[in-house]
Amino acid sequence: MTKSKFIYVLALLATAIALPLSARAQQQQPVDAEGHQWWQHSVFYEIYPRSFADSDNNGVGDLKGIDLHLDYLKQLGVDAVWITPCFPSPQVDFGYDVSDYEAVDPKYGTLADFDKLVADGKKRNIKVILDFVVNHTSDKHKWFIDSRSSKISMHRDWYIWRDGKGPNEPPNNWLSTFGSPGWTLDKKTNQYYYHYFYPEQPDLNWRNPAVEKAMLDVTRFWYKRGVAGFRLDAVDTLYEDPALTDNPPAPGTDKFGRPNQIEQFNKKLPEVHDAMRKLRTVADEYGSVLIGETWTTNVNELKDYYGAKNDELQMPMDLMMTGFKGLNAKEYREHIAAVNAAGQWPVYVITNHDIVRSYTRYGDGAHNDDIAKMMAALYLTLRGSAIMYYGEEIGMENNDPKSREDVQDPIGKIGWPLEKGRDGERTPMQWTAGSNAGFSKAKPWLPVPASAQTHNVESETKDPDSVLNFYRQLLALRHKEPTLLEGDYFPLNEDDPNVFAYLRRYKGEAILVVLNMSATPQKVNLYLGPAGFTTPKISILLNNAHAPVVGTPEGLSLPPFSAMIAKITQ
Ligand code: GLC
Repeated sequence: MTKSKFIYVLALLATAIALPLSARAQQQQPVDAEGHQWWQHSVFYEIYPRSFADSDNNGVGDLKGIDLHLDYLKQLGVDAVWITPCFPSPQVDFGYDVSDYEAVDPKYGTLADFDKLVADGKKRNIKVILDFVVNHTSDKHKWFIDSRSSKISMHRDWYIWRDGKGPNEPPNNWLSTFGSPGWTLDKKTNQYYYHYFYPEQPDLNWRNPAVEKAMLDVTRFWYKRGVAGFRLDAVDTLYEDPALTDNPPAPGTDKFGRPNQIEQFNKKLPEVHDAMRKLRTVADEYGSVLIGETWTTNVNELKDYYGAKNDELQMPMDLMMTGFKGLNAKEYREHIAAVNAAGQWPVYVITNHDIVRSYTRYGDGAHNDDIAKMMAALYLTLRGSAIMYYGEEIGMENNDPKSREDVQDPIGKIGWPLEKGRDGERTPMQWTAGSNAGFSKAKPWLPVPASAQTHNVESETKDPDSVLNFYRQLLALRHKEPTLLEGDYFPLNEDDPNVFAYLRRYKGEAILVVLNMSATPQKVNLYLGPAGFTTPKISILLNNAHAPVVGTPEGLSLPPFSAMIAKITQ
């Protein structure tokens, strides 16, 4: 080879190596002058693939269905979709029982459909986030099939196997959160395996380095296919006390009628954070984001998930707001202040596939649409990222099963009637007022509620006053106004029990958000002097009220459940 040819080949090689690196580096580039990353500017949208759109008309949604609606999502203002598990699965827990982490369940399509979805998303600047079920596999996963085959099988130690304490006595008192004991005896080897969820979801043994490596490799497999991150499922239950200490009792019984216990030895063990850090190291190699299903009882716990050196999850979800009963300005104000004080980038969520829909939870029967808009104005104008749940933008309500026979979600069968399961919040997306809400030509796997007649994409697109059009305008504002992305959070009128108001301030301007959380008209006097606006000029950007909000910040009249968003200049 001549010298110049050699240099040419060397240059080619260097480009080949450098390209993926620079693509990664690009993903990690800040997207604004404040040093924020792409995910801090993104609106995330959770899709339950069984229920979003059914392209092959078999009653169950699929990846092609999602692909066909990317333009809808773009128009809505979505930047990233989180797809709940679409991997091969016996569907005992509707995908959260994974039997192969590196494929697509034929019900939802093929890997080629997945690649097309990622590519089509890319064309529209919509990223794809997958759901990673880290704590357990399906009992039909090849690892578990091998694991249970004998005490000396290669994968035996990939799961948690123990002898019983005695005949018909499990190793300890841990319970499955889904209503059964936490241990199931496997006759073949006469040992028990542990499962925090259904018996068909055996817990992986994260203390085994081979498990850890296999799981980290799963993330690489998907990052290489263009996935922009993961929502990590059930991270709190990754590790168990190796001594299998019994959990202490707690007062009362749970919804399955079992005595409560404090989950001290099978939840939130410190080792969880080692795993988070390792997952983060791999995510960083690809400029990807980790979102956590992080249940906290105290907002301060969020700090643990961000990591002491900010080296764990970039986006631990604040799920506490989903548990608030009713609308109480004081409660929200205190909570938001605490989330901000947790120090990193907040992540707000008002519902998901495990939680009664926000429309149903907050609605009072008389002002439901106004309340839906007001709640949207709240969590989409706060400092932080927001994760929407499909259908929230059209005011979809819960459609709970009417009888035990109708229930699909196994916990609803086990716990009926106290626990009706999660079918109600997982019903088909309502596209039209036509049959099956335009979701499918076949009978959908879950029934659509009567309210689909009015609350659907087609009808609401035509109605300027719809929940959908409010969301569209709100998300457009969020993308257009740098203050909504970059601005700090400055609470106002901190003693008002009915009206929650705050400013987002950035570079001498502010956006004022005023939310009347009560069913009665309210008057507020928002003195903006301490926030730096002594002679504020107000121009309304968005307002959900049928009657216009009138006044100046020093004397605003607010209709019931109104949301007003205005620009403030000095
Ligand atoms: C998470 C999921 C839930 C699932 C459970 C077990 O909580 O959100 O839907 O049933 O984990 O994987």
